[in-house]
Amino acid sequence: MAGRVVYFSGEFVPEREARVSIFDCALMYGDMAFEMTRTFDGRSFKLREHLERLYGSLRLLEIDCGLTIDEMEEQTQLTLEKNQATEEEGMDWWIMHDVSRGPLPVYGSLWPEGVKPTVTISTWPLITHMGPFAEKYTRGVDIVVPAQQALPAHLIDAKAKTRSRMHYKLAELQGQRIGEGSWPVMFDPDGFMAEGPGWNIFLVHEGAISTPEPRNILQGVSRATVLELAAEEGIPLVERNLGRYEALQADEIFCTSTSYCIVHGRSFEGQVVGDGQRGPVVERLTEAWRQRVGVDMIQQAHDYAAALPAWLENEQQANRSALAEA
Ligand SMILES: Cc1ncc(COP(=O)(O)O)c(C=O)c1O
Repeated sequence: MAGRVVYFSGEFVPEREARVSIFDCALMYGDMAFEMTRTFDGRSFKLREHLERLYGSLRLLEIDCGLTIDEMEEQTQLTLEKNQATEEEGMDWWIMHDVSRGPLPVYGSLWPEGVKPTVTISTWPLITHMGPFAEKYTRGVDIVVPAQQALPAHLIDAKAKTRSRMHYKLAELQGQRIGEGSWPVMFDPDGFMAEGPGWNIFLVHEGAISTPEPRNILQGVSRATVLELAAEEGIPLVERNLGRYEALQADEIFCTSTSYCIVHGRSFEGQVVGDGQRGPVVERLTEAWRQRVGVDMIQQAHDYAAALPAWLENEQQANRSALAEA
């Protein structure tokens, strides 16, 4: 809470008052498209690309959210501006868009004014996401293969970012059973590597990068950034079918996602990748990313880790006071 507001279907409301109905299609079917964008130094990074993906997901789901993409961008900017004042300078933000087609029509009589899509834009200080992540930049992540497969595009197309995420959750649970804290990379039914439940994967072999071709995956905005940065750095990169064999030959493996950008794989299926440390290609891409966004995201995560206990204490105190006054 702490003074933050949320864009909620046309108005700005305090975070705790932004409530989605139990009859909403999002709850009934997981029928909702969403996006997660982050800021660097207070400015959204590739917001337009995230919104284009959101509108692509909405076209697949046949949802008209009632806002043009330009209006959605404008409201996003407004939400961010309204909330930035609640934090000290230097805080970066997680921006979340969630769009469902609204309450299920069978319960429509509860909304005599008419059923409308549920559209929310919220922003959250990145400290709670990135503080706990900081040590992973140093240690790397252990990647495992869960039993859960990626869904092929002809069943449900992973290119749309939707809240129907049960298969991702199952992959995560299976990953935890294989090894606490490990990251599951799903393979598609053809036996090719696809993606993790919230990240894309890359292998490096003899200085060249390969990544699963985009048939059965979410085409990550960070994945696209790696493609751009690799081209700028003159690092060869191919999109192709990859399996366990290729992963086990890799000198480096890395994962990408919007919040942390890039993190190295320490092991794959229990075998150490290279020497287990962040390798030269990940190092180069990380540096190029820092230059592009003007923020050292690794240092920032460590700073957030140090500041997190006090931030949480303040936040809880502010929320207790606000609730007492209410
Ligand atoms: C299934 C899946 N794959 C990949 C990604 C990475 O996408 P991006 O780089 O746009 O965050 C995500 C992000 O949440 C995801 O949910």
